[in-house]
Amino acid sequence: MKIKQFIIPFFIILFGFTSCTEKTTVAKKDLSSTDKTKSDAKMESFLDSLTKIMTLEEKIGQLTLMSTDWEKTGPTINENYKNLIKEGKVGNIFNAYSVKFTRELQQLAVENTRLKIPLLFGYDVIHGHRTIFPISLGESASWDLKAIENSARIAATEASAEGIHWTFAPMVDISRDARWGRSSEGAGEDVYLGSEIAKARVRGFQGDDLFATNTILACAKHYAAYGAPIAGRDYNTVDMSERELRTTYLPPFKATVDAGVSTFMTAFNDVNGVPASGNKYLLTDILREEWGFEGFVVTDYTSINELVPHGVAKDNKQAAEIALNAGVDMDMQGGAYMDYLKELIADGKVTEQQVTTAARKILALKYKLGLFSDPYRYCDETREKELLMTPEHLEAARDMARKSAVLLKNNNQTLPLSKDKKVALIGPLANDKYNIIGSWTAAGDRYTKPVTVLEGFKEKISNPANLLFTQGCEINSDNTSDFQNAINIAKKADVVVMVMGESEGMSGEAASRTNLDLPGNQKELLKAIKKLGKPIVLVLMNGRPLTLEWENENMDAILEAWFPGTMGGYAIADLIFGDANPSGKLTMTFPRNVGQIPIYYNVKNTGRPYELKGPEQRYRSRYLDVSNSPLYPFGYGLSYTTFKYANFAVDKKTYAFKETINISVTVTNTGTFKGEEIVQLYMRDMVASVTLPLKELKRFEKVMLKPNESKKITFTLTSDDLAFYTKDMSFKAEAGEFKLFVGTNSEALIETNFTLK
Ligand code: BGC
Repeated sequence: MKIKQFIIPFFIILFGFTSCTEKTTVAKKDLSSTDKTKSDAKMESFLDSLTKIMTLEEKIGQLTLMSTDWEKTGPTINENYKNLIKEGKVGNIFNAYSVKFTRELQQLAVENTRLKIPLLFGYDVIHGHRTIFPISLGESASWDLKAIENSARIAATEASAEGIHWTFAPMVDISRDARWGRSSEGAGEDVYLGSEIAKARVRGFQGDDLFATNTILACAKHYAAYGAPIAGRDYNTVDMSERELRTTYLPPFKATVDAGVSTFMTAFNDVNGVPASGNKYLLTDILREEWGFEGFVVTDYTSINELVPHGVAKDNKQAAEIALNAGVDMDMQGGAYMDYLKELIADGKVTEQQVTTAARKILALKYKLGLFSDPYRYCDETREKELLMTPEHLEAARDMARKSAVLLKNNNQTLPLSKDKKVALIGPLANDKYNIIGSWTAAGDRYTKPVTVLEGFKEKISNPANLLFTQGCEINSDNTSDFQNAINIAKKADVVVMVMGESEGMSGEAASRTNLDLPGNQKELLKAIKKLGKPIVLVLMNGRPLTLEWENENMDAILEAWFPGTMGGYAIADLIFGDANPSGKLTMTFPRNVGQIPIYYNVKNTGRPYELKGPEQRYRSRYLDVSNSPLYPFGYGLSYTTFKYANFAVDKKTYAFKETINISVTVTNTGTFKGEEIVQLYMRDMVASVTLPLKELKRFEKVMLKPNESKKITFTLTSDDLAFYTKDMSFKAEAGEFKLFVGTNSEALIETNFTLK
């Protein structure tokens, strides 16, 4: 009897496998729509057969994701994960990579479970897998959508060659609060730029064919509003208006749905009193019903269980009930679904149909990846040998690091340096392999592979005797024992380059800070060197905006390099010695002090705006002790050359709704270096039914110009781009006067105007 029961379902599965193999030959991007419908129908019938024969326990297994003990990315580890795989209780695994290990675990599932359903392997492939690119905030400063897409593409190629099917990226949380350590993982403060980058990353990870063995599932995280915790403290409460949520924090998530993202991850925080991991409004009403998302939703690490300390569930069982009813498909690490869904069905709190629906979404993506046709198709030693850290990948990482760096200051053209100068290279990050690749570095090697600034400089400086190096101080300590060595070599040099900043662990998850000065005694060392009167170039590595007022006053040049990745040292040397010209622009505002935070460019005017001139300044929206302006605004970044903007115009003065608004401006390279400019277009709606920002980024374009070269840049907008949440919360444009601004950053702008009728 037992045997009979087994043979029938197994036959159906085999039949399913066969149809899936057939699909593999046609599941390419040139599928005609009829072929697509046919292959979708095949998948649906496969899933019908499969879910029909699955037991409830087997379905719950598909809803469960567990970490291995290879890496710890959260508070708990379940040492028993291998047995749970064999028992079919865990259908998905994260923190496992390499062909050997993923094959070993896949075998446990395929050879021990009744239906041989393959595991799905997820991992935090955030800014590279083996070849580490600059941290995501750094990449965003390139404003280079093609390069960002390519970086994600390379990460996917390497990760999939090591058995991974799914990345927990992109993180698309808007962040306007530099205290929040996870600012480093996103694309900064702006909605438009953040949404464009979110789409580029999804395209890069997923490509246009999930079945291809070099593409992986992307995951938009952390849904939602995780970037706005009160006081910038990680995991803290989020309380914001519906208008703000929809205007600022949700659009990048919606953008990923439009780009076809396969999965979503819930956030740890609550949103207006309801934890995101049990939030039906976010997960079902908006995500599924409004946006039409069809993939699956995974929680963040144990965030179902965290509904208990949040105080909305009395125990893990009730937490599981809330999560499933809210629309969570997969439980990461907490085991609440594994432990309680069966009981909850028996108690009538949730239905088996809900479990089946969730399991089906997960199985569908396993099918699309081709895992049912061959569970080991991502476990190929040859690909693993050939595709990791290739020269092409390393070159792309170097290029991305050059594009990400932002030149914050360059007095008297201190930079670029001549290769014949005598250089004192000082600082805790000048020869540091461990920190240069930043946090969330997947399988990246921190010990041997990264290229330090010292190594980069050695390749550039003509006479090796002209390069002097000492560390000078540590990142975060009061040890001054190397200060004197630093002073001594600085005295001998023509120019001093100081490489300073944060350690990798000072930004990223659970790394909020209330003091954003250079940590430890780094500033003290800078002050000691400053006394020598030599030109000083400060190179910064950090994961968020820092407070740099003193440095801005006292350094001759400042280059913000973020954590630039495996090839960081070469890229920095390329920029410092003029083999490349900095072109990055800030995607997060740099405050003057922590008291200004949250600070961002697209502020509203208020009823009492601060004006620099005018008789009455006291009763204005301002501070008594610091100006309203930031140290470095959004969109800011210098070049070794200069650019002039002229002939900014619209083709008409009045436009009808839906009519194309043609905008043009001429940009000229007025300096002596070839350079790339990021031309930024902003807009202001002058009078509307609700208060709106003084400017909002609407378009941008990167343009490379030789000295004296001019280019006409054109942009188009329609009334759709002018839409906002009106007084009654409908999303549309209102007729009236508009201003447009264009320029090199969010403050240095020229303007024109038009009317929408
Ligand atoms: C983080 C996520 C990450 C997950 C898995 C969590 O702690 O918040 O961003 O994807 O761990 O490592």
